[in-house]
Formats: sequence, C-alpha cells, structure tokens
Amino acid sequence: MQIVSPSLLAADFGNLERELDMINRSNADWLHLDVMDGVFVPNISFGFPVMKAVARLCRKPLDVHLMIERPEKFISEVRELGTMMMNVHYEACTHLHRVIHQIHENGMKAAVTLNPSTPVCMLEDVIQDLDMVLLMTVNPGFGGQKFIEHSIEKVGQLRQLIDRTQSRALIEVDGGVNAETAPRLAAAGTDALVAGSYVFGAPNPEERIDQLRALGRSN
Ligand code: DX5
Ligand code: ZN
Repeated sequence: MQIVSPSLLAADFGNLERELDMINRSNADWLHLDVMDGVFVPNISFGFPVMKAVARLCRKPLDVHLMIERPEKFISEVRELGTMMMNVHYEACTHLHRVIHQIHENGMKAAVTLNPSTPVCMLEDVIQDLDMVLLMTVNPGFGGQKFIEHSIEKVGQLRQLIDRTQSRALIEVDGGVNAETAPRLAAAGTDALVAGSYVFGAPNPEERIDQLRALGRSN
C-alpha cells in the first residue's frame, strides 16, 4: 500500500469546500499543501489565511510543503494549523539540523525535501532525525510538469541510505505522479505519493486515489 497525499494546488480554488468534501469522503491518507514565496521558487501559491480555512474544513492530516526561504520563521504558524508533517527544503535551510529539531519541539513530524539537483547523500548526517524525506520528481513551483526520470534511481539510493542507517524516515515523492510513473516509483521503494493534477484533474478523483493507494512496494 502507498500513502496518498493529494496536492491541493491542482484543486478548483473557486470551489474549495466542495474539493475538500471530496478529500474527506475519499480514502486519501493526507492532504498536501504547497506554500510558495516567489523567491525560493518562481511562483506564489497560497498563505496562512487560506490554509486556516482549509485546516478547518479538512479532516485529513496535513502534509505541508514549504517552498519558501527561511521556513523556520513560520514554524509556530504551521503548528497552529494542526499540521502533522512539516516539509522544509534542504536548499532553503542553512542550519538544517536545528530546524528539524525545532519542528519536533513544536510537536510536528519533520520532513526534508530535496530538489531534483540535490543528491541523496546530502542527508547522511540528518537521516536518523527525520520522519520523512520528500524527493521532488519535478522542479518545484508548478503543478502538471513532466516527471524527471532520474528520480527512480534516486528513490533506490534513498531506500538504501534509510535501510543502512535503520532510519524510520518514509520516502515521499512529489511531481508528475500518474498511472505510468506511480507503479515504477512504488517498485523503487516509495512509501507516499503526492499527486496533484492526476487526482484533481480526473472525472473521478476518488477512484484515482484508490488506484494509487493500491500500489505495493517491491522491497
Ligand atoms: C510542485 C508541487 C507539487 C504539485 C504537484 O512544486 O510541490 O505538490 O502540486 O503537481 P502534479 O502532481 O500535477 O505534478
Ligand atoms: Zn508539493
């Protein structure tokens, strides 16, 4: 089984309540929220006023992906949403070890996200402290982009690092997840799949969530 975390970025923002009703009804495990600052990534998405409304309407655990510079400045705001998993980018944190511990001290699970150009080995010294690693399988900033093939190899490398260090970290992937890429990602060793356009762009999003959840892991 895979954990499925639909990305709200691909939802119809004019009908958020209806979209969140669908998520609540569905078998989705988490809800993935993409925060962008226009600096770390070349786009701006939504901020805390919108996420507060989402948190009030959504009954699924929140998987918050911060594509922002200095994410540590917002730890208490993220906690106040009732966030389960706070994802910060490796590339956005100079003092990553400190940030991970601050997230834990605030009662949340901690995940570090890697851009496609950042190698898995950069996490060697923090992997024991992490609850999850989020591998970007597209360059962050936009939904609906083409999957980067090298990501499959990277999932395998991360799986080896986690097994070797006996880390509890889950592996989540984000970007270009669909019927063709998801089975290959799962076979390479993912635990969790983020899917935006593949879920929200479908005539029957709940069916797509179920299809992704049913994928197994080979190792
Ligand atoms: C991209 C975001 C993703 C995005 C994925 O920067 O982090 O979560 O919503 O979109 P799809 O699944 O459409 O590639
Ligand atoms: Zn994301």
